[in-house]
Amino acid sequence: MAGDLQEHSGEYAEADQKEVVEPMVQPKLKSKVRCPDQDIGEVTRVVVDPLSHEISHIVVAMNGRGERQVAMDHVQAVTEGLVQLRTPSADITALPLFKRADYVTTHEVEISHLEEKIHVTPGEVLVPLPELEKEVKRRTFFMNFTNAIGFLIGLPLAFPIIRFLMKPMYIPFNNEWLKVGNISKIKQEDIGVQFKYKKKVKEAYMPEYEIEKNVWILKATPPVLEKINQKKDVEFHDAKGRTLWTNKKEVPYVAFSGKCPHLGCGYKWRKHKTLGQIFLCPCHLSIFGASGEVVDGPSPRGLDVLPLKMSADGEIEIIDMEFKAGTKSQVRII
Ligand code: FES
Repeated sequence: MAGDLQEHSGEYAEADQKEVVEPMVQPKLKSKVRCPDQDIGEVTRVVVDPLSHEISHIVVAMNGRGERQVAMDHVQAVTEGLVQLRTPSADITALPLFKRADYVTTHEVEISHLEEKIHVTPGEVLVPLPELEKEVKRRTFFMNFTNAIGFLIGLPLAFPIIRFLMKPMYIPFNNEWLKVGNISKIKQEDIGVQFKYKKKVKEAYMPEYEIEKNVWILKATPPVLEKINQKKDVEFHDAKGRTLWTNKKEVPYVAFSGKCPHLGCGYKWRKHKTLGQIFLCPCHLSIFGASGEVVDGPSPRGLDVLPLKMSADGEIEIIDMEFKAGTKSQVRII
């Protein structure tokens, strides 16, 4: 026991000699905000870059003149209770007003390990809603999600009726090839390019109708292609286990299903300042590399590769498959 204590005190002494790295001081909520010429208000929120986990902006309530979002570039120093800006107050007042609708809170998105980087408590930490997804408001997403839960709860009661109505749907998966576009649209390797296509859908006794879907197609360089197919041909099977199609390992064109494997949201190709080019899903911020592998976030598996074939003149066709969301392994549902 005494020996243990001695050993530990040796470790502590060694640790004491190491350089102590002070954690970066972060702006605190309710801290006063001061410009070189005057106090302008207080910090009401902080905005976090979802990829780097750094505070990118503070939101300042400007003494009854609205809230403004101030980039950290304007911040000269942060001390306990005070954020000193280097910019004159007139320039800060000229900044656009803060738009709350452009952000989601960290209660709504899961950002792993964020609490290790951000020490602002209590209050709202915000994450910007990615530009292209502002149309698909999170409120709509959660409303649909709530409706879906309600539907599932009522499903056992309605099941016999629904089953009768849906009898025509008990048909094998549709494995038809769908044209999505020409490879001439792809100008660079290892860059995700979105292709939209139409698919005919027939539900129960409803008339057939068309929906728009999308895939991301990549012309992969050899190292990225190897990560995708593990140097093997990728086989796809029908419901009876027979080989439906084989994506040959040497073909550099790869199609990723347009749905995020986490919960099925649409994702985008984005440029990130430290990670480079990535696929980013705005719903819960899953990040995928060019080869579809999970780089960060809650997605349990990488992007789903689809069967792809190409004609001599570069027309690409895919088989539209969908897989169960939220599972580690791929389970085809459409
Ligand atoms: S749906 Fe959740 S991260 Fe994409």
